[in-house]
Amino acid sequence: TVSADLVIVANRLPVDRVEQPDGTPGWRTSPGGLVTAIEPVMRANDGTWIGWPGGTDAGLEPFEADGMKLVPMSMTQAEIEGHYEGFSNGTLWPLYHDLVAKPEFHREWWDAYVGVNRRFAEKAAELASEGATVWVHDYQMQLVPQMLRELRPDLRIGFYLHIPFPPAELFQQLPWRRQLLEGLLGADMIGFQLPGGAQNFVRLVRQRVGHKTHRDLVYLPDGRTVRAAPFPISIDAAGFESMARSEPVARRAEEIRTALGNPRKVFLGIDRLDYTKGIYARLRAFSELIADGHLDVEDAVFVQVAVPSREQVEQYRILRDEIDRLVGRINGDLGRIGRPAISYLHSSYPREEMAALYRAADVMVVTPYRDGMNLVAKEYVACRFEDTGALVLSEFAGAADELRQAWLVNPYDINGMKSALLEAYRADDKETRRRMKAMRKTVTQHDVAAWADAFMNDLAEVPGSHGKAV
Ligand code: G6P
Repeated sequence: TVSADLVIVANRLPVDRVEQPDGTPGWRTSPGGLVTAIEPVMRANDGTWIGWPGGTDAGLEPFEADGMKLVPMSMTQAEIEGHYEGFSNGTLWPLYHDLVAKPEFHREWWDAYVGVNRRFAEKAAELASEGATVWVHDYQMQLVPQMLRELRPDLRIGFYLHIPFPPAELFQQLPWRRQLLEGLLGADMIGFQLPGGAQNFVRLVRQRVGHKTHRDLVYLPDGRTVRAAPFPISIDAAGFESMARSEPVARRAEEIRTALGNPRKVFLGIDRLDYTKGIYARLRAFSELIADGHLDVEDAVFVQVAVPSREQVEQYRILRDEIDRLVGRINGDLGRIGRPAISYLHSSYPREEMAALYRAADVMVVTPYRDGMNLVAKEYVACRFEDTGALVLSEFAGAADELRQAWLVNPYDINGMKSALLEAYRADDKETRRRMKAMRKTVTQHDVAAWADAFMNDLAEVPGSHGKAV
C-alpha cells in the first residue's frame, strides 16, 4: 500500500467514471469548482486523493492520472441516494445556500452520511503516513475530521468548506447540528471562503456549544485549539491565460463567433445546471431586453452552457425542464432564422473549449443567488489577457468580495439585472479596460497556488497542531 505525507479527502475524485459511446468505461474530468481548485495543488505536492469516482463500480484499484495518485471509494446505490443525493444535496446544499430551495430532513439520509464519512475517514487513516497532513474538503465530508482524529491523533488535519457557511438561524434547523459542529472541530484548522462564514461558525460554537473562543480561535475542553479563518479560493490563473492565448484556442474562439453569425456582442453564461446559479432569471432578463427593443438578435446572442449536474435529484430535474421550456419559448418568440436569441448547450466541455468560449465572449454573466466563490467569474477574467470584456457579477457570489470592478447585480432584481446587462453591453472601451485591468491584477496575484500555500502554512502554525510540515 501507498503511504502518503499529504492526503486529500473529497467526496469526488477529479475524474468521473463514465460510459463511453462504445459502451466501455472511461474517465472524464469531474464538474465543479472543487476539482478545478485542488488539482493544481495535488500536482505540486505529490498528494494522494481519496474520493468517489461516480457510479457504483466496486473494486476499482488505486491508480495514477496526470501525476496524481487517486484512490477510488465506491458507493452503493443506497449510499448514493442517502449520502450524496440525500443528505449532501437534498439537505445541506439548499440549507447552506440560504434556502434557495427547501431542504429536506430525513433520518435515513443522515445515517448514510455518517456511514460514508466513516468509510472515508478509515481509508485516510489507513493511507496517511506517521504525522502526515490530511486535507478534508467540503460539505459532504464534515464528520471526517473528528472521526479521523479518533483513529489517528498523530495527524495534522485541515478542513476546507467550498460553499457558504450559513448564519446560525439557518444552521440551527439541522436536527444533527451538534454532531456536524463536533465533526468539523476534529480539524486543527477550518477554512471558509469568506470572513462571514468563519464568523458564523465561531459564533455557533461559542453560543450553542459553549466552547471558549477568542477572535478566530476555538478552545476545546481537551486542550486543543482550532482555528476558523477565511481563505478565498482561486484558480490556476496563469494556466487559463496561457490556454486562452494559445493558437488552437484563438482559432476555436473565431470559429465560435462565426458559427454564431458574427454578432456585435456575445453574452455568455457557464454554470452547473443548479438552482443556486440563477440561470432562469438571467435568461429572462436578457430576453426582456430583446422584447423591449433595447437589444436586437442581429447584434447580440446569449450563449448559455449548462453543465449536467445531480440529475437524479428532483429539484434539478424540475429546473432542467423549466429552463428547457424557457429557452424554447424565448427562441420561438424572439429568434429569427439562423438567429436564436439564446444558444443553449446542456453538456460539459473540456477546459480548452471553455477557454475558447471565454475568449469569444464580450459580456460574461454570472448571477447566482448564492455561491461560495464562483470560479467561472475568475476564469473569465484570467482569460481576458487583452483587458477587454465585461463581467456582470452577482453580489451574492463570494467572488464579488474581490472583483469589485465587475458590474455588480442583485439577481433577485430583474430590472436591475437588465440595466446592468445593457450597461455592460454599451460600455466603452476605456471603461471596460479600466475595470478588467483591475480585476486581472486581483486574479493573477491571488491564484490557487497562493490560496493553497496560505492554507497549508497557516495549518502548520495553529497552536498545538499535530503532524509534521509538508
Ligand atoms: C460544488 C461543490 C463540490 C462539488 C461540485 C460538483 O463545486 O462545492 O463539492 O463536487 O459542486 O458537484 P457534484 O455533486 O457533481 O460533485
